[in-house]
Amino acid sequence: MMQPWFQDAKLGIFIHYGIYAVNGISESWSFFNGQISHEDYMKQLDGFTASQYDPEVWCELFERIGAKYVVLTTKHHDGVALWDTKANDLSTVKATPAKRDLIAPYVEACRNHDLKVGFYFSHLDWTHPDYASVFPADKDPEIAGNENYYKNRFAFPEPGKEDPEAWARFIKFHRAQLEELSTQFGDVDIYWFDGEWERTPEQFDMAGLRKQLEAWQPNAIFNSRLLGHGDFATPEQGFPIVPPEGPWEFCVTINDSWGYQTTDNNHKSVRQLVRMFAETIGMGGNMLLDVGPYEDGRLQPEQIERLEGLGSWIHKHEEAIYGTEAGLPLGLFYGASTRSKDGKSLYLFFFDPPVDQIAVKGLRSAVVKATIVGTGEELTHKRIGGLGETPGIVWIDVPQQLTDSNATVVRLDFEEPFKYYHGAGRR
Ligand code: GLC
Repeated sequence: MMQPWFQDAKLGIFIHYGIYAVNGISESWSFFNGQISHEDYMKQLDGFTASQYDPEVWCELFERIGAKYVVLTTKHHDGVALWDTKANDLSTVKATPAKRDLIAPYVEACRNHDLKVGFYFSHLDWTHPDYASVFPADKDPEIAGNENYYKNRFAFPEPGKEDPEAWARFIKFHRAQLEELSTQFGDVDIYWFDGEWERTPEQFDMAGLRKQLEAWQPNAIFNSRLLGHGDFATPEQGFPIVPPEGPWEFCVTINDSWGYQTTDNNHKSVRQLVRMFAETIGMGGNMLLDVGPYEDGRLQPEQIERLEGLGSWIHKHEEAIYGTEAGLPLGLFYGASTRSKDGKSLYLFFFDPPVDQIAVKGLRSAVVKATIVGTGEELTHKRIGGLGETPGIVWIDVPQQLTDSNATVVRLDFEEPFKYYHGAGRR
């Protein structure tokens, strides 16, 4: 069931941690797409030490920068579990020199830092021998325009070699792993599923799965990758233009990769991250920002720097972020906006220093006061024009020296919850 904490959280941190960080190659996809053989991919198991693994350090940082929840890859598509699963032998405990469970310390660190606990879990498992045993029940020969789609033997059987019994065994295995995750680590706040696209909801029995998980974890929430049985939408990497329906979360990487990749130095700037974050919360969503630690468990310094930068900006502008909701609809203000829950304050976020003024159209309510968030300077403002039911434009003077180099936030106060006009003007 959706929990109110989620929409108040605003910022979460996604962590893709796994053996793919040993070579610094694409998580799971590298063998699926044939850039490396499965055998060579799995040799990374021998190099996975987690020797500096200290989720306390992670969570201290995440809490300090204003994140409210964390989602860690308990198992990616490669099938390597980060805990001591009894369902097979493919885990960091049994198959790597790290020889340890990484989930319990993670959960403990989250709790110590008031962060909600999220478990990422891939439904599909491209290593498990029983996984590639059936085709999706709704097999579409033209899928994604790619006739090779069903020829991938990590995902699908040879035609004519389907084995429903193997699939039934896989589902048992899938449930056994989820039972471990659900009963051995205390409360789970979010199940963040992935890898749902190769079978139908019926083949996974997603409805039954959800019921089962709720029995184990009555307060947990679920992302949408339960094929129709989730609580919140997960637009990924591509920024939504209109707000998705219902609760949602934008998941995005700091550079171009989910996990640590040696050749990826394309880290977004703090200003870019601030802008994406402001636009996300302005449309009522959360941002789940991803980091890819090294195999030893340390975070990449370039990513720490970005998180710190975003965190400083968040701290300065806290009141415009936490305890707010989506602001104005598109078209009233050129920038993002949020509103306080009582509706008596409107926060305007803009990303470039204005020449002299910013403007808000359609505001029906009178502005009592305009201030710069974080420093409190009062701004002069004036309404000009308007006729009948179409309000005039509110012009707010913003001297350049008062702007923030990442994004400036102006707060408008009203006597009553503000109202706005969203029509086409006089006929
Ligand atoms: C995609 C990819 C995966 C990544 C996930 C994060 O679905 O399969 O590698 O973990 O996105 O949302």
